[in-house]
Amino acid sequence: MNTSDTTCKMDEMTLTEAGGPLHGTLRVPGDKSISHRAVMFGSIAEGDTHIRHFLRAQDCLSTMSCFRSMGIDIEDDGAAVVVHGRGLHGLSQPQSRLDAGNSGTTTRLISGILAAQPFETTLTGDESVCRRPMNRIIDPLTRMGADITSLQGSGCAPLRIRGRNLTGIDYVSPVASAQVKSCLLLAGLYASGRTCVTEPVRSRDHTERMLRACGADLTVDGLTVQVKPASRLWACDVDVPADPSSAAYFIAAALIVPGSEVRLEDVCINPTRSGFLTACRNMGADIEETGVREVCGEQVCDLIVRSSSLHGTRIGGEIIPSLIDELPILAVLAAYADGETVISDARELRVKESDRIASMTAALSALGIQVQEHEDGMTITGGPLHGGFIDTHDDHRVAMSMAVAALGSSSPVRISHPQCIRISYPGFFEDLGLLLRS
Ligand code: S3P
Repeated sequence: MNTSDTTCKMDEMTLTEAGGPLHGTLRVPGDKSISHRAVMFGSIAEGDTHIRHFLRAQDCLSTMSCFRSMGIDIEDDGAAVVVHGRGLHGLSQPQSRLDAGNSGTTTRLISGILAAQPFETTLTGDESVCRRPMNRIIDPLTRMGADITSLQGSGCAPLRIRGRNLTGIDYVSPVASAQVKSCLLLAGLYASGRTCVTEPVRSRDHTERMLRACGADLTVDGLTVQVKPASRLWACDVDVPADPSSAAYFIAAALIVPGSEVRLEDVCINPTRSGFLTACRNMGADIEETGVREVCGEQVCDLIVRSSSLHGTRIGGEIIPSLIDELPILAVLAAYADGETVISDARELRVKESDRIASMTAALSALGIQVQEHEDGMTITGGPLHGGFIDTHDDHRVAMSMAVAALGSSSPVRISHPQCIRISYPGFFEDLGLLLRS
């Protein structure tokens, strides 16, 4: 594909094969999870939080707009975002409903903060967010003493949250979810007594790292995280590393297009996020890590990726939370690999921005790939890809994954609603074009 081969109407985009290898160096935008947290924690900290490499994508802008609606002054001069924190008790009641847009992270994390405020809020989002399960936070927050109601009675947003005095609990979560864990830890900052959250498998730990840096009394013991009530948080500047979930599309593109070699800079390789690299290597990928260093409490490095011949693998068990958002692009790699790839223990994919097991099964099948759908995953047999029409279900990760799939297809691939990529990566097609033209 090159940009001249790409046509984009409002509702549809046509992509054609790569036409040549990918080369060059790229720093993909800042990590989405860390950008959300930098704004949230900065808002309830005392002092100014300067955020470099903040992800200016729709999801993180939704978080920004929610906190602005609660009286937080947030400036963006294009170089850095500055959050003027007002402390744990400095938020004010918004004039109208808070709108989390497409962002499950905004919805679930902010609920933990709102549950303890001395005011009532209504929290809503787009059609996709209003389909996603919220009982996973409503139940434990209610046990802490929160007054939180699903207005449609469906266990989904919109949520009405009336702030209450909270009491810490010991919670054993049935799902490995950083959103659930973070929601409860944030509520725990305001609760009386300690709050403990135990997960079945460790999910991403950015909240733990950043809250500790802000001065919270937070300890981690195996799968259990404990937080004690806080009297204050300190503002802590953040340099957001490049998002490994965004880097994954270019890693995959370089792996499958013959003759490619790309360098991806400053990528976060926090072990709770790096399962994709492990899975790729298990498929035979040539990925080199260079200049491993620590930036703001997160491990980062530059990745050098060379095209590789891939073979099928099994992806399941404890690795799943560390690559959960990368499973759509891993499914694409499986289509390009020799033999069979089995993805299991990934039931959580059913409740993401779309049902990603169903979306990716349909998408790869439409391009001629043999895919068997399972309740908790897929079995994919590698083979030649032809063109076809893909319904992205307005899911940014499905759209970007299928744009990469198109790089090696024998005829054009049309994808619906390509603009959904603005959720996490507004410049995705430009960056892909850059590497294809270098
Ligand atoms: C996120 C956690 C994950 C992930 C999401 C971002 C976060 O969701 O899929 O894209 O920033 O905490 P779950 O916690 O629901 O697994």
